[in-house]
Amino acid sequence: MKLKIGIAADHGGYRYKQAIIDKFPQIEWLDLGTENTESVDYPDFAHEMAQRIRGGEIKTGILVCGTGIGISIAANRHPEIRAAVCTNATMARLTRAHNNANVLALGERIIGIETAFDIVETFLSSEFEGGRHERRVNKINITP
Ligand code: RB5
Repeated sequence: MKLKIGIAADHGGYRYKQAIIDKFPQIEWLDLGTENTESVDYPDFAHEMAQRIRGGEIKTGILVCGTGIGISIAANRHPEIRAAVCTNATMARLTRAHNNANVLALGERIIGIETAFDIVETFLSSEFEGGRHERRVNKINITP
């Protein structure tokens, strides 16, 4: 069975979103847009991704915008989401292992496409280590 992963981008990340989909055909992509480089608002795509994860349709998502920052900030407003901006594969491995990140955020204006591919591959193949990291992850959400 193919692994189902969500992917979404604003106009600043559209080209990398398409390149990632093409690069990893073994993955069943749930493409949540955008569909071209016309200007859109990155929070809309972050919230849509968060809703799909909260609803159980997917466990993991990839978000791309110009920097990866805005779209990750918006996604992280949802308590169930741990979105990590990664600029190299080490960050991708460690954010899975230590933070149990369920969303990877990438910046098309920040990293090269080969680096983006390496990050995606590493993020999707790395496991959460649990143990002491589980205790820390459980402390991330604050209760009002
Ligand atoms: C869009 O121009 C740009 O602001 C967006 O892609 C992202 O970089 C925001 O953090």
